[in-house]
Amino acid sequence: MLKRFSVSLEQKLLDRFDQFIGEQRYPNRSEAVRDLIRKALVRQEWQADKEVMGVISLVYDHHHHQLQETITELQHGFHRQIVSATHIHIDEINCLEVIIVRGKARQVQELAERLTVLRGVKDGNLAMSSTGGELH
Ligand code: NI
Repeated sequence: MLKRFSVSLEQKLLDRFDQFIGEQRYPNRSEAVRDLIRKALVRQEWQADKEVMGVISLVYDHHHHQLQETITELQHGFHRQIVSATHIHIDEINCLEVIIVRGKARQVQELAERLTVLRGVKDGNLAMSSTGGELH
């Protein structure tokens, strides 16, 4: 069930918020506020080391010495946190690996950090997600 509540804001802050809503293409203020609240709750879950989900993406040169083996080895060490992994050959040199992860926030972050700092990894990101504690 939807509940309503009112918010008091300084004019300047409201103007900036409306500008933000326009730039982000939110249909209205309510949708923007709901989204920002959910994002804050997801961030809190990660900080509190709750069960979370996320996506690690890596772009790397597969010719780089031992890199492919190290990436595979690391993933086997964290097999309980890995739901699935997809490998895409971008071109003759570069690969994209997308790893869907699930587990305690700290363990998932540790895996992401250990993968992204490897030499030869050109780009590494962790998209942190979760339900934000919402059951539906
Ligand atoms: Ni490849």
